[in-house]
Amino acid sequence: MKVFHAKEALQNHLQPLKQSGKTIGFVPTMGALHDGHLALVKNALKDNDVTVVSIFVNPTQFDNPDDLNKYPRTLETDLAMLDKLSPEILVFTPDAINFYDGQIKSQPFNFDGLEYEMEGKHRPGHFDGVGTVVKKLFEIVQPHTAYFGEKDFQQLKIIEKLVEKFNFSILIKPIPIYREADGLAMSSRNKRLSFIHRKAAPFIYQVLKQAQLLSQTNTFKEVKTFVNDVIQAHPLLKLEYFEIAEANTLRPADKKKVGNKYRGFIVVYAGEVRLIDNIEL
Ligand code: PAF
Repeated sequence: MKVFHAKEALQNHLQPLKQSGKTIGFVPTMGALHDGHLALVKNALKDNDVTVVSIFVNPTQFDNPDDLNKYPRTLETDLAMLDKLSPEILVFTPDAINFYDGQIKSQPFNFDGLEYEMEGKHRPGHFDGVGTVVKKLFEIVQPHTAYFGEKDFQQLKIIEKLVEKFNFSILIKPIPIYREADGLAMSSRNKRLSFIHRKAAPFIYQVLKQAQLLSQTNTFKEVKTFVNDVIQAHPLLKLEYFEIAEANTLRPADKKKVGNKYRGFIVVYAGEVRLIDNIEL
C-alpha cells in the first residue's frame, strides 16, 4: 500500500492515472477507522479504478482543544485495516503544516444557512473548518466521486453545498449509518466511552426509533417532548439537543408538509464523550 505525506507527492502519483482515464474515488477520514469507514472505502473500491483515503485529524474543525487532543490517533492500525481491504488503496496522511502551507486556520464560508443550524450553533466555527479541509482535499485529490456517511448528516449537506458553490465536478455519494449490533452508531469517539457509558449509549438509537414510530401519529412537538423527557430521565446520558428538521434545508420543522422529508437529529453526552446520531422520520 502506498502512503503519501506530502500533497505534491500524491498529486504527482495521481496525475498520470487521471490522464490515462482512471476514475478516482475518495474517502476523507480523521482516522481511528471502524467498520463505518470501511463501508465507505468498500463503496469507493467497487465504483472506481483508484481509491484514495485521507487520514488527517483536522485541527481547524475542533472548537474544543480538549476534544482535539483526545481524538483517537491509531495510524498503524488504520493502515493495516486498509491494507487488508486492498493493498491498492492510496493513503494520504499529511502533517498539518504541509497541508495548510504553514497557516493552520480556516476560511469563512457561506453555506446558505446550513451552517447556522444544529451543529453550527453548538460548535462555532466547526463547519468553516470542515469546509476548509474538504475544499483543500478536493483540490489536491480531484476525485470523480467522494463518499460521506449519513451519521454526520449536516456535514453531508454542507459538503453537497460546497460542491455546488465551488463548481467541483465531484459526485458526492451518501452512505447510510453503520451501527454496532446493539444499534449504537459507529464513531471513532466510541473508543473513548467508559464501560458503563458504552452500555448506556445504545439507548440513543432506541429513543430515535421510538421517535420515528411516534412521528407517524403525533406532532413533531410531541415527538420532541418525548425525546427530551426520556433522555433527561436517563442517569448516564445528557441531552445537548434533539431537533427535527427538513432534510434538505435543515431548517427546524414544526409540522410535516406533504412532499418534504424530515429527520430527527440528536446529540448526547455519554460521560465526556459527545455522540451524534440521526434518523429519517
Ligand atoms: O467526518 C470526518 O471525519 C471529518 O469531518 C472529515 C470529513 C474527514 C473532514 O475532516
